Amino acid sequence: MLAGGSRTYHCKTKTLTFAELQAATMAPIDPHSFTDSSHPLATHISLSFFFDFSSSTILGAAALSLPRPHSGPFLLDARSLSISAVFEPHTKNPLPFSLSSPDPIKGQSLTVSLSNHSRFTVIFSTSPSSSALQWLLPPQTFKKTNPFVYTQCQAIHARSIFPCQDTPAARIRYSARLNFPARLSAVMAARQVERRPPAAGEAAGVCEDSLWCGEGRVVEEFVMDQPVPPYLFAFAVGEIGFREVGPRTRVYAEAVPEVLDAAAREFAGTEEMIRVGEGLFGPYEWERFDLLVLPRSFPYGGMENPRMVFLTPTVIKGDASGAQVVAHELAHSWTGNLITNKTNDHFWLNEGFTTYAERRIVEVVQGEGIAALNMGIGWRGLVEEMERFKDNMELTKLKTNQEGVDPDDVYSQVPYEKGFQFLWRIERQIGRPVFDEFLKKYIATFKFQSIDTDMFLNFLKTNVPGIENEIDLALWTEGTGIPPDAMEPVSDIYTKIVSLANEFNLGRMPREDEVADWHGQEWELYLENLPKSVEASQLLDLDARYRLSESKDYEVKVAFLQLAISSKCRDYHNEVEKTLKEVGRMKYLRPLYTALVQGSGMEEEKIFAKRVFSEARECYHPIAQGVVKSILAKHL
Ligand code: BES
Ligand code: ZN
Repeated sequence: MLAGGSRTYHCKTKTLTFAELQAATMAPIDPHSFTDSSHPLATHISLSFFFDFSSSTILGAAALSLPRPHSGPFLLDARSLSISAVFEPHTKNPLPFSLSSPDPIKGQSLTVSLSNHSRFTVIFSTSPSSSALQWLLPPQTFKKTNPFVYTQCQAIHARSIFPCQDTPAARIRYSARLNFPARLSAVMAARQVERRPPAAGEAAGVCEDSLWCGEGRVVEEFVMDQPVPPYLFAFAVGEIGFREVGPRTRVYAEAVPEVLDAAAREFAGTEEMIRVGEGLFGPYEWERFDLLVLPRSFPYGGMENPRMVFLTPTVIKGDASGAQVVAHELAHSWTGNLITNKTNDHFWLNEGFTTYAERRIVEVVQGEGIAALNMGIGWRGLVEEMERFKDNMELTKLKTNQEGVDPDDVYSQVPYEKGFQFLWRIERQIGRPVFDEFLKKYIATFKFQSIDTDMFLNFLKTNVPGIENEIDLALWTEGTGIPPDAMEPVSDIYTKIVSLANEFNLGRMPREDEVADWHGQEWELYLENLPKSVEASQLLDLDARYRLSESKDYEVKVAFLQLAISSKCRDYHNEVEKTLKEVGRMKYLRPLYTALVQGSGMEEEKIFAKRVFSEARECYHPIAQGVVKSILAKHL
């Protein structure tokens, strides 16, 4: 199907010259990308993907367009891609290229030698271990009849699907042609153009496996008309169905009626949230706001892919509490997707603003009480991160320096909750009405741009004159720890729960009438406020009464199991094992594996953790596999 594969190039001799040239001109614009500051940023990519489920690979062609012709070496990011050819699209003349040796964090640079070219096409294939892709065999899906594949590109994994300038400083439009077995369907974080039979020349000749490829194939075409950073590239292919839940929202999931119905019920209030978001932050610019509920191995709670948010099925609890995750991913439509952090060093601009915006939406649709509870859980999380990073306070800064650092390894609550605190502090200083106007202006000013912390601070100082005399902006953005003018949220329910948790230490269990109206979030806050280690007998009592270890709400169950592990209460190993084998969300894997392997006297737990990981890892997304591997490596 893909042209150019048979030609050979004498890249070896060129490699040295490129390396020399590179050394002379290289000025990376992002610690996580090979993108060079002197090179134009591609503005459009046209992608053709041929999905080979039998080998868990994609055969791909990527045609990149530059805003101006370029001569000399041109650098792209790549990871575990096999490049078979690069050529000029009109003449089909080959262009010399070379791949660097792999960097453990950034992957490889693909250097293409251009001579006044503004377009070129790369022919490549992905590896079965592509860090962005999870290929699920039928038994790993809910329905168990068909395979499934999906992406997770944030932070730096788009490069493992196609070569690109994989930095959020870049914004690209794209078109994509996905070719896959006709009994499956595709969704993308993009607009669907059509589903059609493959044209001549798009034949399935390259695929020999009779199971997935000997049958008919189909092509689905998509277009992303708005310029987006590469980490927002996303698709899923599988047996996917949907339900309509609002005028611009469908819920997609594996085509199982119960799953679709439960998802449709859980997210029925989405349109109301979009309207609230528009009222607070300005027009919704992405036309559609669809949701895709993924298999249980999805490594995040949610991912804000534009036009189509990706969600873990664990948010479907039957009590509409999944709405908080949707509110968060929806809020990214303004903060993150419209205004994007220029590099991961400024990640707080994405997540801190979004956490603030999420809580403003939740406050309107679910009430101040729930919003305050979320703020309380967030505060608790922030305090805990300070403890976790006490030996590396660098990671408690809002503006970070991630040179030589893998963003997946340093993922934490700091950009979310310290970022939230910073914005809340500004709100308290200038008052909500003024802050709301400021936010709207900020979004309108920087939309479709990638910005850094200084650009935000300058905008703040210009629009709120004198703010630097009221708030220590440098301390907030460049200092470590929690600034003294941060604020623990206060609300009746928050205070009540924290004091009940303190009483647990004195041996008092909460009474039935005290917890009668508690949902998952109340329990989560309660458990997170208990000491790290408690008497095993007390834990067993608490569980006998409230069945927390069996909770359907993973936030509650995991908080309880984490406490059980660090309290060396071994009665729960079965439940821990079951949990680690049934979900792949890193929010649950991280604390459970960490609790198992850190600290002294945990020899039995360490062996247990290693065994469970070796049995469960195949079911985790590659990003989650990497994160668990590095947790175990740190302690074993
Ligand atoms: N963008 C993040 C997920 C992410 C962050 C993926 C960094 C890769 C690298 C997403 O918006 C997020 O924050 N998800 C949270 C949801 C929550 C805060 C409601 C999650 O997954 O837990
Ligand atoms: Zn987020």
